[in-house]
Amino acid sequence: MKIEVIGSATQVNEECVKGKTAVVIDVLRATSVMVTALANGAKQVIPVVSPKEAFAMKEKLGSDVILGGERDALPISGFDYGNSPLQYTSDVVAGKNIVMTTTNGTLAINNAADADQLIIASFINAEAVVKFIKGNEDVALICSGTDGQFTLEDALCAGYLIEQLQMQNEDVNLTDMAVAMHQLYKSNQKKIVTIASQGKHYQNLLRKGFVKDLEYCFRTGLFANVPLRVGGVLKNTTC
Ligand code: MLT
Repeated sequence: MKIEVIGSATQVNEECVKGKTAVVIDVLRATSVMVTALANGAKQVIPVVSPKEAFAMKEKLGSDVILGGERDALPISGFDYGNSPLQYTSDVVAGKNIVMTTTNGTLAINNAADADQLIIASFINAEAVVKFIKGNEDVALICSGTDGQFTLEDALCAGYLIEQLQMQNEDVNLTDMAVAMHQLYKSNQKKIVTIASQGKHYQNLLRKGFVKDLEYCFRTGLFANVPLRVGGVLKNTTC
């Protein structure tokens, strides 16, 4: 399996994903929200790039729609929920269409439109993602990052996925960037949160009081579902 790592949403283009399985990672917090919402029974997650598109999608779909997401980590005016995974409980999301827009996570998904297949990863479903991608020939791990910049939490998650694949004897051929992410994870695996907490976005969320989200998003083995893009929307698959 060839694995490359892309360092931010803005670096994603047709060339880097064509013919590949794209694995979009935005640990804090977009992909943690998507995994949680679908694990808790949401019908589908519809990622869009702007709040304007989200309102238009709601209008089009009519009933059973929840608008979720953020700008600068805070809820968007007129939306039902923000970007905290803890808000997406089963009583809120079961059977609902979640239309989501976030600064970097949904942008990364949009920019990876040309991937052969696209799935969603975070620490909370990482083991299921590893099962899903095992045996794939060409994988692009897309670290969504923040505002065009690489972020530690996404890099650590990419490194964790690579480590799990290697531990399961998958024959991996890594780009230099993938080797770097793997080494970052391996040399810090006992202190993932300590390392991630030095990051800009982690600190932004901490300042804004999202302490519980920060605890939640670094848990592993929480869910066995893998959101898979099917015709432009994300649906659950279970591994
Ligand atoms: C994003 O997509 O930029 C993030 O999910 C932002 C956030 O944590 O709210």
